[in-house]
Amino acid sequence: MVAACPASSGGGAEGSTSTFLDYQQLIIKVETTPCKRTVKLIYKPIKLNHMIYMADTANLDELRELYSFFPLEGVTTNPTILSHSGHKLSESIEGIQELVGTGMVHVQMISAESDDMVREAKKYRSYFDFGDNFYAKIPVTANGYRAMRILKDAGINVTATAIFTQQQALVAMKAGADFVAPYVSRLDNISSHGIEVVGDIVQNIANYGLKGKVLAASFKTVDQIYRVSMAGSHSATISAELLHQLIKHPMTDIGVKQFEIDAEGLYDIAF
Ligand code: G3P
Repeated sequence: MVAACPASSGGGAEGSTSTFLDYQQLIIKVETTPCKRTVKLIYKPIKLNHMIYMADTANLDELRELYSFFPLEGVTTNPTILSHSGHKLSESIEGIQELVGTGMVHVQMISAESDDMVREAKKYRSYFDFGDNFYAKIPVTANGYRAMRILKDAGINVTATAIFTQQQALVAMKAGADFVAPYVSRLDNISSHGIEVVGDIVQNIANYGLKGKVLAASFKTVDQIYRVSMAGSHSATISAELLHQLIKHPMTDIGVKQFEIDAEGLYDIAF
């Protein structure tokens, strides 16, 4: 004889286990027994099947607001971004860390010599008690490539930054970079072609079966973001202003307004 389950147990009639990805690509395992339903977070895989959105800002007010509604998977910073935040590195990163939880935090190294970059990265990773969600951003200089290799050998995630050519990105991935960040607007502004560079790197990754991912950066328009996603960019880091703009459409607002008007006196179920 099977004992009856308490009404609030959430259990199913039959025992079962199912696994799925939630919208942030966390692997969720749901175990259902006749009396209990257990939801477990298994792990967050690096391989994602849609474009990762990250916020390219260290402004904590902006980030707080963005994190309240936008399915972000991390935050990227550099010295210029930090200089706009009004906080020093330690305060900024601490605040960001609290907001992102298990999301990624990309912090740029400022040293010029490779050994110093490596020391810097190791220091930040331990200072903020980061785990695998820490990414050391390293510019694609000769010393930077050397530091990337050393950091990867030490098991530290690397984001190669300040990329303007497909070759810089390819060499960075050979040096072990997990993400490569081409600067789209800065390319467009010198009559070059940011979207094409992104597309070429995406194609390289597919052709050669590389593990690296494109982190398209430096956007000035929503159209550029649309184009990099159509070019297959694995991720994009975007300012707060553009993240707000890219979900907006005046026709959506008009449609929502009309729904409100039409619902008047019609929805008679209290909630
Ligand atoms: O993530 C890199 C990005 O912040 C550079 O952007 O606008 O200074 O070209 P921007």
